[in-house]
Amino acid sequence: MEKTITNKLRFETKLSILASVAKVVLEKVYKSFPSSSKESTEALKVETLGIPTLTSSSEQKVKRDRSKLSKINVLRSINLTVEDGELMVLVGPSGCGKSTLLRVIAGLEELTGGNIWIGDRLVNNLLPKERDLAMVFQNYALYPHLRVYDNIAFGLRRMEIGRWGKGEMEKNISSSTPSWIENLLVGMTRSLPLGWRYLSQKEKFIARRVGEVSKLLQIDTLLDRFPKQLSGGQKQRVALGRAIARNPQAFLMDEPLSNLDAQLRTETRTQIVKLQRQLGTTTIYVTHDRTEAMTMGDRIAVMDRGQIQQIAPPLEIYNRPANRFVAEFIGSPPMNFIEVRVKTPLLINHALFSLTLPQTWAKFLEPYEGRSLLLGIRPEHLSISSPAPQNLPVQVDLVEALGNDTYISVSLRESPDSCLQARITPELVLQAGESIWLSMASDKIHLFEPETGRAIWQS
Ligand SMILES: Nc1ncnc2c1ncn2[C@@H]1O[C@H](COP(=O)(O)OP(=O)(O)OP(=O)(O)O)[C@@H](O)[C@H]1O
Ligand SMILES: [Mg+2]
Repeated sequence: MEKTITNKLRFETKLSILASVAKVVLEKVYKSFPSSSKESTEALKVETLGIPTLTSSSEQKVKRDRSKLSKINVLRSINLTVEDGELMVLVGPSGCGKSTLLRVIAGLEELTGGNIWIGDRLVNNLLPKERDLAMVFQNYALYPHLRVYDNIAFGLRRMEIGRWGKGEMEKNISSSTPSWIENLLVGMTRSLPLGWRYLSQKEKFIARRVGEVSKLLQIDTLLDRFPKQLSGGQKQRVALGRAIARNPQAFLMDEPLSNLDAQLRTETRTQIVKLQRQLGTTTIYVTHDRTEAMTMGDRIAVMDRGQIQQIAPPLEIYNRPANRFVAEFIGSPPMNFIEVRVKTPLLINHALFSLTLPQTWAKFLEPYEGRSLLLGIRPEHLSISSPAPQNLPVQVDLVEALGNDTYISVSLRESPDSCLQARITPELVLQAGESIWLSMASDKIHLFEPETGRAIWQS
């Protein structure tokens, strides 16, 4: 019997948990849920208003309408390709369908339409356990009665040997002990502290894998503890460890950091990114935190109301948002919007200012002569300036000094309902009620179609 697990976990410098990378491809994925009967009845009431009595044909119509109305389309034509080894961040407001999308990929929800490929396998009809994915949830879902070691080992013990990967398990098992005796000894000693357990060949292999993973996540000193003896961040790392140990084809992470305090969140975020780079496992990471999205992802997929709005690297999303929703959602404080009118070739007019755009806009503005557009400008691209026809005359409503930065909320003169935010240098002292002029960095202006919200460069 081994003295301690940690003694025997002197692992080689090379990790045996190098990822089996796989591309994840979603083609026209749809998911709808049946709506509650109350919702459909309410909808039907509206739909059938004006029908005094139900004739048999109107009854049939109501039945038809009921079947039509009794679905909520949560995912609508999702196309997404996550490349081998990529960290894709899925971001969007609450209720937009992020968790549903992960659950559909994991096989925890049935698809309504479309195809999902993992590696070269079409997995539409495969059970979750056959998809070779590991999911990490917001609530760590650790087994309270199992030690950290056993929590990490749990998935490994349940895996068939053939799926351990790279013939590694077979290489390591060369025991002459009959497996039923081993199983008996393992079973009898499993509840003992780690150093006292009997380790079969399979358990030795598991121990090595758990050792590697726990070292990677810096929880190797906690293996003997129960979940209730851990902090939130440690529990989170154990949950990650359990996912990593299985060496899946892809990780699906659903807001895994939202239970942590701000500092731990930042630390764990960095750790997850480092780990993902080290392991190179394809990862889809769901969050509604914009900072997490900007700092973690190789690419970001922005979702709204069941549809993907844009997929691009973080800075491209920030600098070239495809539509008003993305422009407003990514960036804090959000982008400001002002309605303006186009005078080709390059003039943008408003009752209070008039601005000439850089020459590069000419070809995009041509079709919009005389039309209204939404001008978008980020708070950091507004600065305090002097009176001029191209500048905005505003009144300061609120000053928020954060130390490193100062944000001001202002309204356009004579339109108290308009609200804009600007970032100014903290050295400047301003008071609420002051009248000032703001200039816009003309090369940082965005323009959107008011009706569709689409960015003009997209058209
Ligand atoms: N089993 C279900 N039956 C009916 N509607 C559901 C079901 N599961 C989710 N929904 C609905 O689908 C929509 C998307 O839910 P989902 O949990 O995917 O959102 P989310 O983007 O993960 O939100 P959050 O950021 O709050 O976690 C919501 O409107 C939700 O009410
Ligand atoms: Mg969710």
